[in-house]
This record gives sequence, C-alpha cells and structure tokens, in this order.
Amino acid sequence: MIVLGIETSCDETAAALVARDADGSGRILSDVILSQVEDHNAFGGVVPEIAARAHVEALDGIVAAAMAKAGKSFPDIDGVAATAGPGLIGGVLVGLTTAKAIALAAAKPLLAVNHLEGHALTARLTDDLAFPYLVLLVSGGHSQFLAVEGVGRYRRIGTTIDDALGEAFDKAAKLLGLPYPGGPAVEAAARRGDSARVALPRPLIDRPGADFSFSGLKTALRLAAEAAAPLSDQEVADFCASFQAAVTDIVANRAAHAMATFATGHDTPPVLVVAGGVAANEAIRAALRATASAHGFRLVAPPARLCSDNGVMIAWAGAERLALGLTDPLTVPARPRWPLDGTARGVLGAGAKGARV
Ligand code: KG4
Ligand code: ZN
Repeated sequence: MIVLGIETSCDETAAALVARDADGSGRILSDVILSQVEDHNAFGGVVPEIAARAHVEALDGIVAAAMAKAGKSFPDIDGVAATAGPGLIGGVLVGLTTAKAIALAAAKPLLAVNHLEGHALTARLTDDLAFPYLVLLVSGGHSQFLAVEGVGRYRRIGTTIDDALGEAFDKAAKLLGLPYPGGPAVEAAARRGDSARVALPRPLIDRPGADFSFSGLKTALRLAAEAAAPLSDQEVADFCASFQAAVTDIVANRAAHAMATFATGHDTPPVLVVAGGVAANEAIRAALRATASAHGFRLVAPPARLCSDNGVMIAWAGAERLALGLTDPLTVPARPRWPLDGTARGVLGAGAKGARV
C-alpha cells in the first residue's frame, strides 16, 4: 500500500509518500521538507501565527512535489495521513484540513496521526524493528520514554515535568546569544569548550523513575552567565560544553532507569530507539550508546533527517494504522494536546501484539 503523509505541527511543512508491503517492510518513495527556520530566526523561537501562514502558503506545492517525486497521482495512493496533534493548532489545522480535502476528493481513507506516534514508529521503517521496543523521544516539544508494544499500544515510562530537552537547548542558546534553533548551535560551540568550566546541577539524577526536569538547570545556567557577563567567545563555548555535559549525564541516567523498567516487563532482546530533533546530538548519542550497551540494550538511531520532523514519519504511521484498518472519519478533530498513551481514540489493544503485522 502507498500512503501520503503530511506534517505541519511545528515549523516544518513536509509531505512524503511511503510504500508498506504486506510483510511490514517499507520504502520511502518521496520526502519533501520546507523548513521555516529563517522565518522564525529573528524571534528566537517558533511564532505560531507566522508558522500557520507559512504552512498555508507552502503546503499545496509541497504535496504536489511529493506526489511528482514519487511519480504518483492521487488515484495511485491507498490513504492520506496527516498529523492531527499534538502541536501548534493553526499549523495542525492546515495539514489536517488539506488531508481531509484530498481524502474526500480522491475517495481515499483518512489517517489522523498522533505526531508522537510518527516519531515512535519510524524505527520500524528504517530498521525493520519488531515490537516491543523502548523509545526515547527528545524534541523541541517532548522528552519522554515510551514502551512501544504495538501500533496504538504505547506506555509512557517517564516524561519531563517542565521543559522539553530541545526547548532547554533553545533557551540556553538564546541566553548565550546563539541563534535559533539552539541545539545545533550549542553542540557546535560545545566542541570548542571546557565542560568543567561551569558547575551546573543535574536535576532529578539518581532519583527513582525516568522523569526529566530541565528548568532548574536552565536557571542555574542563566545565573552563572549573568554573573560572568560579558562572556567572551571562549566563555560561551565553555558554558555550552558545561550545559551539554549536564544534559548528557541526565539523559544517560534517566535512560538507565527507563531500561530497567522496560526490561522487567519484556523478555525479547531489548532495543532502545532515540528519536526527535535532539537525537542528532552526537554527545547525547554517544552517552546513550554506552548506557544502552551497559544494560544489554541495542541502540537504534534512525538517520538525523528522519529523527527531526518530516512527512515520512507521518506517512509511515498512517500506513501502519491503515494496515490494521484504523482509519478516521472526516469529522476527526485537530488536537493541540494529545498524549500518546491512554487516550488514542479507543485503539488501545487493537491488534499488532508482539510482532509486526
Ligand atoms: O523533532 P524536532 O525537529 O521538532 C520538534 O520539536 O518536534 O526537534 C527540534 C528540536 C529543537 O529544539 C532543536 O534545538 C533540537 O531539536 N536539536 C538539537 C540538535 N539538533 C536539533 N538539540 C541538541 N543537539 C542538536 N544537534
Ligand atoms: Zn517532532
């Protein structure tokens, strides 16, 4: 089957076509992304109204490009998937409404995909993973561990109690005078810095459970930066290295707790998948690889392009849902807040137990 996927929940306008075979294997037929980073740069973060307008302007052309690159037209596809939440409501509405229009006009099933489900299932496309596996999703909006037990069957093992990790990187960058998005800028500066320069806290480390907290770290960074101002280029690099060392320690510690929780409930050879934009960070990947191997887990990290927001992950999650008959009516609402576990429109327990289907 072939599914068109549309992603507009944040600052990327993206569309893609994927094919999924009956044995559960998949192929990317096209993958088109327009990043709005330039539009938001001056504001140091994503401005929802600017994002929604940019999606309106770009989306028809992005969908047409994805169809053309795959050499397909609407009669060739088997379903239309779009992010229905969580995310910025204006953008989600643009993508979901466009998907509904295509589904109606072409008489194809609609798949209203949870954005987090897209991140969580990508590793089945890239690495052919069977259920269950553990996912660490670290992006601009989310930091959580999910036990992925089947399509529509997700159990949250830990989450952030304040900021998301990507958000913490973005805020750290902003207060150190680095550009948005902050993650890549902080990582690049950290390479030239001394991670022992600033003593920073590691909130929640060695507490039980796998929850995160980054707001105390951010405040400590701000106070230290204010005390040392004005910062030279070398000091900015040192602050970045110290911040990155702190979050790396936190992530490794929380991952160890999450793996222990996950391992107690499963007997298959365990896999830890890291997804979301922050998964591009090499220091964090290296720490996760070491912690995973110490706990007998294999670390799977999909290519960075498929870790950050994209249309492929939505098309693929749509294909996985379509294979189970989990289609949605044209009346399905956009949901700015939509936790992945517990409330997935009654699909919990629907099929797919233990292996790909
Ligand atoms: O998944 P994503 O593209 O968008 C969503 O938030 O859903 O993630 C974007 C986030 C931003 O906060 C960005 O600063 C962060 O991922 N990020 C990084 C790196 N590359 C992107 N954080 C740390 N290190 C990086 N290399
Ligand atoms: Zn995302």
